[in-house]
Amino acid sequence: MPLLELPGKIIYGVETINSLSSEAVQLGRKFSFFCGENSLKRSGYFDKILSSLDKAGLEIQVVSGIPPEPNVNLINEILSKVKEFKPDAIIAIGGGSVIDTAKIVSALLADKTATIFDLKGKEIEKAYPIIASPTTAGTGSEVTRFAVATDLETKDKFILFGKALIPKVAIIDPQLTYTMSPLVASATGIDALSHAIESFLSKSATCTTDIWAKSAIEALWNHLIPAILEDSNYSKERVSYSAFWAGVAINNTKTTLVHAMSRPLGGLYGVIHGIANGILLPAYLRFCAPVIPQEKMNFLKTVMKGYPPDKIEELLNTLKLPLRLSQVISRDKININLLVERAKSAVMNIENTLRPVKDEDIYALYEEVI
Ligand SMILES: [Fe+2]
Repeated sequence: MPLLELPGKIIYGVETINSLSSEAVQLGRKFSFFCGENSLKRSGYFDKILSSLDKAGLEIQVVSGIPPEPNVNLINEILSKVKEFKPDAIIAIGGGSVIDTAKIVSALLADKTATIFDLKGKEIEKAYPIIASPTTAGTGSEVTRFAVATDLETKDKFILFGKALIPKVAIIDPQLTYTMSPLVASATGIDALSHAIESFLSKSATCTTDIWAKSAIEALWNHLIPAILEDSNYSKERVSYSAFWAGVAINNTKTTLVHAMSRPLGGLYGVIHGIANGILLPAYLRFCAPVIPQEKMNFLKTVMKGYPPDKIEELLNTLKLPLRLSQVISRDKININLLVERAKSAVMNIENTLRPVKDEDIYALYEEVI
């Protein structure tokens, strides 16, 4: 049954972060405040936000320094600190890893006997409320039912999912993204583009999800370069909204083969998520091209002004992002068989790909991008 799933409330626009404390007081008095390593402090927002929460009379536990690609051990450490504090809800302001960590901790707070591994592979039904605000323009995690974590022992990067993980409130203030480095802006921007394209070309796409996906593809295509290379705040704003639109799109369709194949590159070799997606995206489009409906291919060609896989390679070049795996991992370290094993376990994404995917197709695609 078609159903469009969204967070309880989406607040978006420049300076909307100022509404954080008034939103928080509606959810409780005690909050764990999750943020990343440095960027929020560097941008000056960390002090401003904490002082507004303090003025609203809220009791705050700061959990800072959450790194990219959160791992199970770190999430468990954070969980035990948060359990001691007994918050009413979590505020997560950061990139996808900060918001994903908040989602997993919130699920484990609600399900007291579960471990992270117990949550794998099934719909998560309980979680503490989250207010999420992104400081990157990419993952769309502030509006999705997904969270990703890495098991350091097995190097398995896995996904957890469930409607309960969707933040109660998403605040998308583009100003929080203005101080991203060009590398972070490029990698997260390509992640958003990948979300939008994968949603648009997924088996689960509907006329309604296509509205979100097409708007995101068009805006990202027109604004990624001026946002990153020309430092245009107007374009940064559009990219910020596009990442959230793409997040809504994948929240309702899921991602496909690109994400199935990029997760093991992150888990096994530490390849940055958006960079892995960028490397895979042109090969995936060439693989799917024979089955992409004409109308959808025409849309992509019109927006990109050319054949989509070629144009995406041009974009990666312009943004100085790698086009091949061997640019980020030394060739002799790459174990394609292991990558294929890991990628094919993402059944949800593989089965959502427009063209049927065999194990040998995954192998050939990894070989193509080495
Ligand atoms: Fe992604």
